Amino acid sequence: MIKETFVMIKPDGVKRKLIGEVIKRFEQKEMEITELKMKSLSREEAEKLYEMHKGKDFFEKLINYTISGRVVLMKIRGEEAVMNCRIVVGETYPEKRHAGSIRGDFSAYLTENVVHASSSDEDAKRELGIFFG
Ligand code: CMP
Repeated sequence: MIKETFVMIKPDGVKRKLIGEVIKRFEQKEMEITELKMKSLSREEAEKLYEMHKGKDFFEKLINYTISGRVVLMKIRGEEAVMNCRIVVGETYPEKRHAGSIRGDFSAYLTENVVHASSSDEDAKRELGIFFG
């Protein structure tokens, strides 16, 4: 089924000039970028995006990192877009990542992990709503 999801290239991805590489990987997987913008998130926007992690020990570090530089926000459309974009992104935990995924190829860290993609249809709807109305 054709679906939409939300993807964000995080501050480390932008600083390391990986925007082109990251977009290429989604396009290679036959995903279509239908909206795209670059900005610095406010603390409020970052806390809204990651509200499911509020109260966890890594929350403050995650928010400070997310607002530390510009990010690229994207609406992506394609066959089972939520699942397929997660496959392109790779695993959260470094020890589980495989070469060939964005995080497997470009990140050695848990927090600074280049890219975020919504983890469910409900999250995708909510996260797209925050940034694309
Ligand atoms: P992301 O997929 O954007 O979702 C939540 C983010 O929190 C995750 O990527 C990491 O950048 C960050 N994070 C830091 N510590 C943890 C942790 N212990 N578990 C999950 N996510 C973490």
